[in-house]
Formats: sequence, structure tokens, C-alpha cells
Amino acid sequence: MSKLTGSRKATQFTESVIREMTRLNELYGGVNLSQGFPDFPAPDRIKEAACAAIHADINQYAVTWGARPLREAIARAFTHRYSQPVVADEQVTVCCGSTEAMMSTMMAIIDPGDEVVIFEPFYENYGPDAILSGATPRYVTLREPDWSFDPEELAAAFNEKTKAIILNTPNNPTGKVFTRDELETIAVLCRKWDAIAISDEIYEHIIYDGQPHVPIATLEGMADRTVTINGLSKAYSVTGWRVGWTISPPSLTGAIRKVHDFLTVGAAAPLQEAGAAAFELPEQYYRDLAVQYQRRRDMLLDILERHHFTCYKPSGAYYIMTDISGFGFRDDVEFARYLVKDVGVAAVPGSSFYKNAATGRTKLRFCFCKRDETLREADRRMAKLVPAGSSIH
Ligand SMILES: Cc1ncc(COP(=O)(O)O)c(C=O)c1O
Repeated sequence: MSKLTGSRKATQFTESVIREMTRLNELYGGVNLSQGFPDFPAPDRIKEAACAAIHADINQYAVTWGARPLREAIARAFTHRYSQPVVADEQVTVCCGSTEAMMSTMMAIIDPGDEVVIFEPFYENYGPDAILSGATPRYVTLREPDWSFDPEELAAAFNEKTKAIILNTPNNPTGKVFTRDELETIAVLCRKWDAIAISDEIYEHIIYDGQPHVPIATLEGMADRTVTINGLSKAYSVTGWRVGWTISPPSLTGAIRKVHDFLTVGAAAPLQEAGAAAFELPEQYYRDLAVQYQRRRDMLLDILERHHFTCYKPSGAYYIMTDISGFGFRDDVEFARYLVKDVGVAAVPGSSFYKNAATGRTKLRFCFCKRDETLREADRRMAKLVPAGSSIH
């Protein structure tokens, strides 16, 4: 057999469906409500800080595990917000986005045969992350309408081979915000089975209706067994900057830093300086961010409901999962292609968030990190949509 093929690992997963939808959207000139990036500007203050850093010639490699001002700002913010001390030198590693932070963490802690518990629907990177790191994934389903999990199903997914659980709160794609009780159920299992919680909290500040964000690291006995992952992308609307980080217990930091160093050396030095400046924004910035996103959530909910989607109202993050069974298409992929090609709106097929694709076949995810006029344009275009039985497609 020819050796001119991809590795077994690389053939076990497909290219990103989300980014494929973005490409299709460009092809058909649609309104892109698929990939989660804002189409409005980032705050001036941090853009100016980035330009100033380049002009000040902060243009060479930063310390591989992150420029000190940013690492200290990350540690200070977590300590201040959650009253739990984080030591920058021992616990914080800056990576190229939280995407790399997750990959470095998994490669740093997983051995072949280790099991990792993943909630589904999941952010689509977690599947390939598990394959690339050699983990055997064990999926536990979050069930609509409230995306709760069955504690017994979760308990049954843990065993002596469980090395970690991947958690994402506020959650993409469901908008679920895990409650303290749910996190405690997870923490009990982590403590029982000596497992690590890898908690992707990139939507920390995008949370609605006055709900608190609870980092699982702050639960009793969890600081020593949690890697918290976060980044600049969502809180400061700079998804293209590629700056993220891990906050890990000191026992895991060395391994994460080594993997990170040999994967990427480091994140862009001037953008790390700008990241430190971002942490100087007042608390009001985060309150406004949440208020603005809640307003956009309500706007898109109204649009989608008027156009016959069944919506699951999100409590955080900037996505709405919908049920599309009423439209009478064969499946989510067929409907998503129709939507981008004939209606001119891109969304993500639900099946890309599930291991068991069948569970996602009736779902479609829309994002609302967009300007009002973008959402209004999607509204106008969706006027074409009719539920099954009302007209021909
Ligand atoms: C849950 C989740 N984690 C991570 C990321 C990627 O973050 P970053 O830009 O920091 O790599 C995303 C982006 O959509 C996300 O939704």
C-alpha cells in the first residue's frame, strides 16, 4: 500500500464542518451565522495597545510560557474574581488561542488508553483533540430542552482508566451554564476516580439573566485537579489574535509548558502585551459585553422563532441551538446547504457536535455575535423559509 497517505490519526476525523460552512457562505455570498466570530470592532484601547507594542519593538519571541505582564494579569483577575489564589509563575501558560491550550493540555496529560469523558453536543475540536492526544473518548449526552445530564450516566462513564473530563461552561453549542450543583456532581466523580477536570471557560463573561459563572476549579478539592482554559478571543472580540491560556495546578504546569513550547514556542508577543492591557478594562466593560450579547440573543431568538425554528434559549455563550424537524428536510446537512445556497444564511449542522451524528440530525446552530444589521439581513433572507407542508422548498 502506498505510504503517500495521511496518518491513521488524521484519517479518523473530518475537516471542520464549521469552517466549511464559512467557506460555502463566502461562495454563495450569504450571511454568516455559522462560525463564532464577531463582525463588529474590537475595543479601541486594546487595538491601540497592540499597535503600541509593535512600535515599541516587542516583536521577538516572548517567554515561551507567556509574557509576564499578561500572565500576571490573568492570575490577578482569577484571584480577584473567584477569591482563589493563582500564581502566575507556577500556574499560567499562554498559548496560541484556547484551541492550542486544550491540545497542549491533552497531549501533556494523556497516555494511550487513557479515557476522557466528553459531554455531547460538544465544541467540535474536542473529538479531534482526543484522537490526536491518543485518548479514548467516553461521551455523555446533554439533553434538550435544558441540556441537563443524567448523573447516573455520567457516573457510569468514569472508571479507573478515566484520566480527565472535558467541560465547557458557558457551553458551545447549547448555551448551557452548568450550575454549582451539576459541577459538584462532576467534582465528586473527579475526586473519586482521581481524574482531572479540563474546563474550557472561554465564554466566562458572556452569560445572561444574572447567572453567575462558576469555575469548577473553585469547588472544594478541585484546584489541584483542574486545568482552566480561557483566552482573549471571545471576551475582547479578537478571535484572530490567537491568544489563550491555561491555569493549571503546579503539578501539571511543567508538562503543559513543555508540550506548548515544542508545538508553537509561543503566542504573538505584541498581542500578549495588548492582552495585558485588555485586563485593565473596567468591570463595566464586562457588564456591557453581557448586556449587548443578551440583547442580540433576544433579537435572534425572535427572528428564528418567527421563521418557524424551535429554539433552545441559551443562558450563556453566543449560539442558539434549534430544532429543524418542522422543515421536512432529510437531515441537518441537507437543510444547512439549502439555507446557505438558496436562502443565503449559513448555520452549522447539529450533527457536527455529536459523536452519534443521528442525535444531531434534527438540529442546527446559529451564532449571534453579529451586528444588528447582519441579524436583520438574515431575518429578511429567511422570509423565504416555510415549514414542511406549507409550500414547496
Ligand atoms: C468552546 C470553545 N472553545 C474554544 C474556542 C476557540 O477559542 P480560541 O479562539 O481561543 O482558540 C471556541 C471558539 O469558537 C469555543 O467555542
